[in-house]
Amino acid sequence: MKEYIIHNGWKIIEDKFHPELNKITESLMSLGNGRIGHRANFEEKFTGETLQGNYVAGVYYPDKTRVGWWKNGYPRYFAKVLNAANWIGIDVKIGNEILDLNTAKVMDFRRELNMQEGHLNREFTAELPSGKQLKVVTRRFLSIVNSEIGALTYTITALNFSDKLTLTPYLDFDIRNEDANYDEKFWDEVEVNIKPGEGYITAEVRKTLFHVCTGMKFNILRNGEKITWSADVENRTKFIANIIALNIAQGESITIEKFGVNVSSENFPKEELMKSAVNLLNTAFQKGFTQLASEHTMAWLEKWKTSDIIIEGDVAAQQGIRFNIFQLQQTYTGEDERLNIGPKGFTGEKYGGSTYWDTEAFCLPFYLATAPVQVARNLLIYRHKHLQKAIENGAILGFKQGAALYPMVTMNGEECHNEWEITFEEIHRNGAIAYGIFDYVRYTDDWEYLAPYGFEVLLAISRFWAQRVNWSVERQKYVMLGVTGPNEYENNVSNNFHTNRIAQWTLRYTLEVIEYLREKHLLQYNGLKEKWGFNEAAETANWLNIIQKMHLPFDEKRNIYLQQDGFLDKDLIKADGIPETERPINQHWSWDRILRSPYIKQADTLQSMFLFEDEYDKDTIERHFDFYEPLTVHESSLSPCIHTILASAIGRGKKAYEMYLRTARLDLDDYNNDTADGCHITSMGGTWMAFVKGFGGMRVRNGRLSFAPILPEKWNAYSFRINFRDTILEINVNKQAVRIENLSDKELTLTLYDQPQYIGGNKKTEVQLKHNENED
Ligand code: BGC
Repeated sequence: MKEYIIHNGWKIIEDKFHPELNKITESLMSLGNGRIGHRANFEEKFTGETLQGNYVAGVYYPDKTRVGWWKNGYPRYFAKVLNAANWIGIDVKIGNEILDLNTAKVMDFRRELNMQEGHLNREFTAELPSGKQLKVVTRRFLSIVNSEIGALTYTITALNFSDKLTLTPYLDFDIRNEDANYDEKFWDEVEVNIKPGEGYITAEVRKTLFHVCTGMKFNILRNGEKITWSADVENRTKFIANIIALNIAQGESITIEKFGVNVSSENFPKEELMKSAVNLLNTAFQKGFTQLASEHTMAWLEKWKTSDIIIEGDVAAQQGIRFNIFQLQQTYTGEDERLNIGPKGFTGEKYGGSTYWDTEAFCLPFYLATAPVQVARNLLIYRHKHLQKAIENGAILGFKQGAALYPMVTMNGEECHNEWEITFEEIHRNGAIAYGIFDYVRYTDDWEYLAPYGFEVLLAISRFWAQRVNWSVERQKYVMLGVTGPNEYENNVSNNFHTNRIAQWTLRYTLEVIEYLREKHLLQYNGLKEKWGFNEAAETANWLNIIQKMHLPFDEKRNIYLQQDGFLDKDLIKADGIPETERPINQHWSWDRILRSPYIKQADTLQSMFLFEDEYDKDTIERHFDFYEPLTVHESSLSPCIHTILASAIGRGKKAYEMYLRTARLDLDDYNNDTADGCHITSMGGTWMAFVKGFGGMRVRNGRLSFAPILPEKWNAYSFRINFRDTILEINVNKQAVRIENLSDKELTLTLYDQPQYIGGNKKTEVQLKHNENED
């Protein structure tokens, strides 16, 4: 763990220069607006530790993959989000010395991300080897109002010298991905336009042929007043710059205001790309930095109105939850159903920017409750659009009759992952996608989504499960062999409880949906049956049989479901015996040792207990929690959130709080020693669930919203808002009471601590806070 980030409710602060931690800070302070994003790289040259990162949503390259032995069924490529043009760059030279914080003496350094207003600030004093001292103050943002636009200001003050100052604002498309498998570059130059004060490059992605045009335009000010200047222009392949020589006198400040634009052929016709970039950038430039920044701030304040969570009495926890919400909002805005949420969002290259089961299993609930319904719906539509490819993927693996296996990792619907034990075996992802449909309909009441979208996906997934199981004569049960559950520290196991359980559940849910369609949309349903060649009688009879006879490994003695067949053969030594120096084990132990160990990377059986909570009583959940939690190492970011929710539900407040801090501050404190690669964006949806479903106890049961709040001991109070079927509710919890306020005109009845509560439009209700009975 690294605890260098200063605790603050609204800001992420690094209050002195930590060059050795720079990649972590760059990840933490990344900016994004759903369309473009970048890491908190420095504007000026920096030769120290850095991971350069600028990303344009939806623009990727299908890289050839590296594998030891090729296996039939492997995908042909690994899609990776591309490191795109760096438009923030400004080289700074005083006399003949270049400003580089790796070689200068750095004093009074402060970098902070203002989450309330969505901008990144930095200031420092640097002493160059010659002894010249300068102060630099910067601010930048990526507009959430004009999602193609970013802007920054960079002010240099000469503290103890007068000299020549050379500024070189540039735009660099000659970049590569750090994770390029063959060290190739992925961009080719198409068109360049450069003159004093502005410049544009259009580049094309090899193979996928996406075009992106990035532009820059700037102003220069002396002591706050605009000045005229002349520039030499530099133009080499995929790189353009202006070189501006000025004089700076001691005490004077020179500011450069630099504006950037990024447009891609995903949203503009290729032939008009540069024209569009020029127009957008000119409009932004005319508005000016202050106006653009204030529109952007206003939009952020608006976003916080519906999504903020306030915690009183615990700044670390407060900072954690806001950081998670802020990053989720920066990553996905839901305006474009072709986009999704990569595990690292716009904060790094790892995971290739692709879509995982994380979206449905961890992120969907956040967008459901904090954004207009269209946002979550678009996440579902994304998968519906990929249905044909999922069916083709199933066919490649030998499945028939329209059975779909959604990819483990995808950009455009095609599978991109190739480790056989994950690509072919981690099939519980299919269940997560089905569950996402259920979760969406349960929350929104948008049953209409099921015909045709939801049903088509459910049918194809159910067909997959029906073929993936086989009848075991020995057991007289359906079994599922050769799978990997969410716990990737076990591979190629038989009868992973979570996988069998979610398969069984999917089949049952699909049957329910069919019943609904028969009743409400018979005509459309008959059409769908025909379209998909669905032999309802035979296929559903088979599904029913599987549902009834699915093998779920169980240990009579302990009265618990087992993660998989044979789990009890392991040497079940608790994880608290692993020395700190060997954690995370995936960075210290051989893979073989991990596989033989009993250690669980992330909630697996407990993932099911969470999803299907209503089917288990509290004692059952408690027994499973007590068995699996001590074996869990939480080395996947997606783990502690589920443990918070279950711990809250069974009254383990201390554990819930411990797990909450771990999920909320996972990146801020670098728990798993991997934030340098980027932040764990999808687990942030899990953090939100940990709070609202864990501490808030929020559920939707039988169409009704319910709450059962608990208050962690350390906190004085908390509050959050949610949007439920066009009603905005504010939930306030303090040491004495729970107050729920209906901020809309619509009345609603909800359940609070198992009791129905009617709340009229713009009214509130209040009950006593319930305390944990069985605190550990
Ligand atoms: C987890 C997976 C997850 C992936 C991307 C892995 O470490 O085990 O469950 O889908 O990361 O977040």
